[in-house]
Amino acid sequence: MHVLRWTPFGVGTILILMLLAQPLPAQAPTQAAKQRHPTAEEVSRQYLPRHPKPRDDVEKRIVAVLEDMYVNQSHGMGNILPEDGRLIRMLTETLDAKHVVELGTANGYSAMWFCLALRLTGGKLTTHEIDSDRIALAKENFKRAGVEDLVTLVEGDAHETIQKLTGPIDLVLLDAEKEGFTDYLRKLLPMIRTGGLIIAHDSSGQAHMMEDYFNMIVENPDLETVFVDASRWGMCITRKMR
Ligand SMILES: C[S@@+](CC[C@H](N)C(=O)[O-])C[C@H]1O[C@@H](n2cnc3c(N)ncnc32)[C@H](O)[C@@H]1O
Repeated sequence: MHVLRWTPFGVGTILILMLLAQPLPAQAPTQAAKQRHPTAEEVSRQYLPRHPKPRDDVEKRIVAVLEDMYVNQSHGMGNILPEDGRLIRMLTETLDAKHVVELGTANGYSAMWFCLALRLTGGKLTTHEIDSDRIALAKENFKRAGVEDLVTLVEGDAHETIQKLTGPIDLVLLDAEKEGFTDYLRKLLPMIRTGGLIIAHDSSGQAHMMEDYFNMIVENPDLETVFVDASRWGMCITRKMR
């Protein structure tokens, strides 16, 4: 008769295999993993008011409209966040920009941030929008904020309308459809002055839709780029070096 013999070696091997097959006990998170760094947006919201403290009555009127737009109009509008607004305002002032061009006005929230800066630099904004309801809303917002003299709202498909622009342009905000960014850049780059900036919004939030654009700027030796996450959306900031 054939007897199955369990040698000590065989039993040991089976036990080891059984142990290996058990799920590992869940590991407690390490202290380092628990201490996630806060994002820039979180720190900003902890220390700064949502919209800036007005420095005079004109700013008071603009900031009041910014706050109202944020609270009552931002749903589904695709507006930049206040943290992005702070940065574009600061860059506009730092460049002493005289001509800013925006693609994608929506209701005019980002445009209003530019207006805060352009009041000080003596510059103007040309902003482009295709949607008629949004155009009407933006016009109403510019009127109640008292910034109509700072803004030209160009209606229609920006791929066509930007061809009528003339340079020099100090700063461009690309915030219309992502698929159009390469065409916008190709058409606008000759008009942007040396040292001028091109800011592409949503460069972290929508990075997967902007690969062609990123490749286009990286391949151009005249451009320098930095990716900044002032808010969760991110901005790809490119400087025309020559
Ligand atoms: C993300 S929203 C802009 C948000 C705005 N910059 C803000 O932060 O307040 C994008 C806008 O681009 C507009 N848009 C899309 N394609 C366009 C085109 N070809 N020409 C002009 N505007 C366009 C849309 O109608 C939409 O209002």
